[in-house]
Amino acid sequence: MARRIFYLILTVLLITFPQLEFAQSKATYEGVQVCGMCHKSAKQGEQLKIWQESAHAKAYKTLQTKEADEIAQKLHKKKAVEDAECLSCHVTGAGKDKSMFGSKFKIEDGVQCEACHGPGSEYKSMKIMKDRAAAVKAGLVLWKDEKEIEKFCTTCHNEKSPTFKKFDFKTMWAKIKHPVPKG
Ligand code: HEC
Ligand code: HEC
Ligand code: HEC
Ligand code: HEC
Repeated sequence: MARRIFYLILTVLLITFPQLEFAQSKATYEGVQVCGMCHKSAKQGEQLKIWQESAHAKAYKTLQTKEADEIAQKLHKKKAVEDAECLSCHVTGAGKDKSMFGSKFKIEDGVQCEACHGPGSEYKSMKIMKDRAAAVKAGLVLWKDEKEIEKFCTTCHNEKSPTFKKFDFKTMWAKIKHPVPKG
């Protein structure tokens, strides 16, 4: 009897919340090269090129500099690339298990698309990408408005960054925004 009720509840739950079917939990980080295959043409808005020219693309390489090692040495007596705290803002999927990364993913690519848009294995197919609701359900992260975007940026751009001075959202967003052209 108890067992029947258990299965009944489980069935109702799965019908009501189909996303419980593990779609999001098994999502893996695919890497910027995978996203870039489709997001590079002028018609699409050249997101790949805009990102490549941004500081986010070299966030990991920055940790390999002498300046970074000096900061990490002083704070934690470690090399910067071995310091979990530095990595938490300078790479994508910091601290996540090895099983969470696809074969093309490279840590050296720093703060990649999926650091902001979420791990992409479940939303990266053309069919899902063209359907915004389906993409969001499969884990694509988007924001409601600029207030929400700013709040998100400041999860890394804040005084926990040893080199932090200030974060002016309007100027900083203008430097990296990458819209799909209208029309
Ligand atoms: C197979 C091609 C393809 C791949 C791979 C791909 N995308 Fe897309 N993506 C598209 C297309 C097509 C659209 C729809 C764009 C449009 O509105 O014209 C889209 C839309 C988007 C949008 C905008 C959604 C919206 O409605 O505002 C984001 C954000 C996005 N992709 C991020 C990514 C990220 C991050 C990756 C890598 C994990 C990725 N895409 C991989 C083809 C792709
Ligand atoms: C996962 C952490 C993370 C998030 C989220 C993040 N950034 Fe960054 N950002 C960095 C790091 C790390 C650097 C420094 C990279 C370097 O110089 O090596 C940086 C650098 C930058 C720079 C270059 C600095 C300059 O003075 O020109 C801009 C612009 C920028 N970020 C804008 C943004 C905006 C806008 C958002 C939100 C949409 C954002 N970032 C979200 C980590 C992040
Ligand atoms: C809370 C997020 C965060 C953490 C933690 C963090 N950084 Fe950064 N780092 C950033 C951001 C954002 C920038 C770019 C803007 C700034 O300087 O705040 C940056 C920029 C840098 C720069 C370039 C500064 C410049 O003027 O060009 C260096 C070097 C650096 N970080 C080293 C480190 C080291 C070493 C650690 C670990 C001890 C570390 N960061 C930890 C977010 C972080
Ligand atoms: C630092 C965070 C960050 C990074 C890195 C980043 N994006 Fe975005 N992306 C955003 C934000 C914020 C928006 C604005 C979304 C909105 O308006 O809701 C956006 C919007 C988009 C859009 C939709 C634009 C539109 O007009 O609707 C696409 C497509 C996209 N990003 C693809 C990418 C791809 C591909 C990469 C990597 C090459 C990437 N993004 C890297 C934060 C980021």
